[in-house]
Amino acid sequence: MSLPREFASDNTAPVHPAVLEALAAANQGPSHAYGKDPWTARAIEWFRRQFGPGTEVFPVWNGTGANVVSLRALTRPWQAVVCTAQAHIQVDECGAPELLTGCKLIDVPTPDGKLTQAMLRASMKGIGDFHHVQPAVVSLTQATEYGTVYTRDELSVLCGTAHELGLRVHMDGARIANAAASLGLPLRAITRDVGVDILSFGATKNGAMGAEAVVVFDPALAGPMLFLRKQSMQLSSKMRYVAAQFLALAEGDLWLANARHSNAMAHRLAAGVRGIPGISITQEVQGSAVFAILPRAVAERLQQEFHFYFWNEAILEVRWMTSWATSAADVDEFVAAIRAEMAKMAEVPGLPGMAGLPRTPEKPG
Ligand SMILES: Cc1ncc(COP(=O)(O)O)c(C=O)c1O
Repeated sequence: MSLPREFASDNTAPVHPAVLEALAAANQGPSHAYGKDPWTARAIEWFRRQFGPGTEVFPVWNGTGANVVSLRALTRPWQAVVCTAQAHIQVDECGAPELLTGCKLIDVPTPDGKLTQAMLRASMKGIGDFHHVQPAVVSLTQATEYGTVYTRDELSVLCGTAHELGLRVHMDGARIANAAASLGLPLRAITRDVGVDILSFGATKNGAMGAEAVVVFDPALAGPMLFLRKQSMQLSSKMRYVAAQFLALAEGDLWLANARHSNAMAHRLAAGVRGIPGISITQEVQGSAVFAILPRAVAERLQQEFHFYFWNEAILEVRWMTSWATSAADVDEFVAAIRAEMAKMAEVPGLPGMAGLPRTPEKPG
């Protein structure tokens, strides 16, 4: 079933046509397996141009796999990974990181999906006490699960503090392209240069069919990674088809255009919704997501025509996501529908009129 009115996730977006063309072009005759093919070599060169010489790159199948393999490289089973309470590794990976690292996740509640230096320091408990797990890694999601984005300075402070505390830094970059586009900075400036040790690099949400990579900045982690990737069932035999997807997104900086576009569509949606009384936007819109609180009846009526989820049903908060495939017309149509449903609600006798409902204050960004 096709879902033309789609604001649920960037995972529901189609594959970018350039990626499909690249897959077809790669599908010519035999080639070496397990990453010894020319497409993988060229993709690794692209990664090294982005992140600098010495970067080691391990293409994998999916984001959960990239996170698990990265965390396995950084931990022993009595250790722990500090992350936010909203982190994908904590909420949406079915316990795979705990199962496959043997480590506890220390999940820190945050208002906006971003860890702070103070939160990180406060999570360092029981150090040296054999009754307690020992924090070894902090995992930061960029852009966050709330569509917010860590600034370069925030990352520098967090990575510096982590290293000072003896922790390594993992970044879940399932939406790293959206973060780079939002900040107007090169990928390297918000990863390797600020002190990230290992990155889960995402391409699937950026227009690929299914292509992610573990990007290693600490050369000592590269040797074990070769074995961990295979043992974690993330080694692709026909790797050229994963690599060809990266190459398609690299061509002419399509990855950046896609990320800029999806961010712009989220901003357009937020700008439209801000003008509608009775709806409040709950998070800073910096990436490709808009979080909003609206009346349940309105949300449920909209869901009959548009695909999106409640994020936190207890407070009637929904998540609207955009992608490379969201058009300005899709957004405008959605905003018009939201406005119409809110107006209908305001006409119900006994309920306050539109004019009486609060508006979301204008926020920068
Ligand atoms: C923040 C984040 N990390 C990782 C992933 C990767 O998940 P998957 O294993 O489904 O590719 C996702 C997917 O939604 C995500 O949102």
